[in-house]
Amino acid sequence: MKAGRWILRAELIDGKAIAEAIRGEVAADVARLTQQGVVPGLAVVLVGDDSASATYVGAKEKASKAAGMSGGTIRLPASTSQAELLALVEQLNADVTVHGILVQMPLPKHIDPDTVIRHIRPDKDVDGFHPENVGKLLIGHTDGFVSCTPAGVIELLVRSGVDTRGAEAVVVGRSNIVGKPMAALLVQGRAGGDATVTVCHSRTRDLAYHTRRADILIAAIGRAEMITGDMIKPGAVVIDVGMNTKPDPTKAKGTRLCGDVHFDSAVEVASKITPVPGGVGPMTIAMLLKNTVKAAERVAERAADTAGATKTVQS
Ligand code: GUN
Repeated sequence: MKAGRWILRAELIDGKAIAEAIRGEVAADVARLTQQGVVPGLAVVLVGDDSASATYVGAKEKASKAAGMSGGTIRLPASTSQAELLALVEQLNADVTVHGILVQMPLPKHIDPDTVIRHIRPDKDVDGFHPENVGKLLIGHTDGFVSCTPAGVIELLVRSGVDTRGAEAVVVGRSNIVGKPMAALLVQGRAGGDATVTVCHSRTRDLAYHTRRADILIAAIGRAEMITGDMIKPGAVVIDVGMNTKPDPTKAKGTRLCGDVHFDSAVEVASKITPVPGGVGPMTIAMLLKNTVKAAERVAERAADTAGATKTVQS
């Protein structure tokens, strides 16, 4: 860095590198399971032609193929009825080659997402959105699936050596996909948990009062650069889940990606911080692959148990 420019105080948490390490571990698990006769399979369903969703789905398909998984993306027109989508989910529920099912959100307005989520078999719900999996997370059972983004945040914290035990963790945002499961994970009595958790949201009276108390601050609001350096406790660990765009005339597109945290001011106050892009984003796909391996692993275990039981009966 040139003399006279500000000194980068916070260490960057490299989500891209951590996600790559996880994807390597997943590929090794897929190879082992494949040798045992179970090729982990992920089915992704995309309804309609939302361009952001198409990009995310393309990335998920590419990553699952790169890890050696089977499956692929089923693309349906926006005119697909709810009954047709539910029939497809039933078909995937019954397909023994499919271990994980993901229906990309948002869905067209005439389809109720909760109805679709409830139709996915909980043991194939690698998104962790089904009420059964959400309930398991809350009561601390580890045999369910956890929503990929908050699960990825915990991996980032653990693999970066952040001690969450007894820490004041403040989650800004209360969505079902990120904020609520994030709080549930941080409060569990295990690695990456044991924190004292506060959840802030749009009705929180004095947001900065809470964020300034945080040893670990998780921003998942969906508002560009809303958390500024003056709202952060010196030395805090800042995790930015936001994925927003802001005007940037220097870019060909006229916009650029930014998070929920104002990076340039936050980096001077925090001890560790995730960048956008390259922080939480890559972790979401890595955790989806990890969940799919977990689903396939259970099928392989059940097959081994059945084979063992048959052998015992025969002997
Ligand atoms: N849309 C944006 N993020 C997600 C995700 O993690 N899962 C699904 N199913 N849809 C999404």
